[in-house]
Amino acid sequence: MNTELAQTHLNDDTRDIRALIAETQAVLGEAVCEFPSGSLALSFSGAEDVILIDIAHRHGLHLDVFSLDTGRLHPETHEFLEVVRKHYDQAIELLSPNPIGVQEMVKAKGLFSFYTDGHSECCKVRKVQPLRQKLDTLAAWVTGQRQDQGVTRTALAQRQTDEVFSTEKRQLVKFNPLAHWTSADVWQYIRTYQVPYNPLHNRGFVSIGCQPCTRATGPYEHERAGRWWWEQAENKECGLHAKRIIPLAQR
Ligand code: ADX
Ligand code: SF4
Repeated sequence: MNTELAQTHLNDDTRDIRALIAETQAVLGEAVCEFPSGSLALSFSGAEDVILIDIAHRHGLHLDVFSLDTGRLHPETHEFLEVVRKHYDQAIELLSPNPIGVQEMVKAKGLFSFYTDGHSECCKVRKVQPLRQKLDTLAAWVTGQRQDQGVTRTALAQRQTDEVFSTEKRQLVKFNPLAHWTSADVWQYIRTYQVPYNPLHNRGFVSIGCQPCTRATGPYEHERAGRWWWEQAENKECGLHAKRIIPLAQR
């Protein structure tokens, strides 16, 4: 594993992360105790939220794991999913978008409509709809979101009622056990515990999504500056986590 990587992402904010690990373990433990296997799953994007799998494995907590394979991920992300699957002997369910939805969108607008129309439509077809289908089978889910990821996440709670995917009939619980971690904490953990990471991080990629919508960032840029870089910071949510961006009536 290339240790240069961690240097790139570490800064002077390095701190003792033992309390954060204990806190995250407690949140995961609470989730696993309250929601039996089959009703709870980790939504894994193949970047740093591998920490959640690592902590769960170290403490004997079983988590079902799924990932949204949008059809536009980097090959490195696919390879990394495979590394994680083997390293932890962890099944990862890959969720694909509805092919008819993708075909219709691409036929009408081409493969890169997000650069001119904004990313919501494509993210809705490739990410949000398959996620909704999966969440309809669950009572709770776990994400690797953090408060310091951007202006849309500063008030993120470790446990919340999902405000996007809950319906009037069914409340969905969402756990964000890394809410209080900073980017530096994440890379400190990855280095200390020799956790596998996406090789794109060695090439200056910090926050990684789909290939056409992600680029490497410079040393003093915010980590999400490389996501949907042609849009404003307050629009940098794809619908997985934004509040009520898709009205119930349109679901
Ligand atoms: S995004 O909404 O902007 O794409 P981000 O990349 O910050 O999300 O990741 C935050 C969390 O969302 C991840 O830790 C993960 O739980 C979930 N997530 C993001 N992308 C995916 C994906 N492709 N598949 C599954 N979960 C994802
Ligand atoms: Fe489409 Fe880009 Fe959203 Fe991926 S991140 S689903 S390619 S708009």
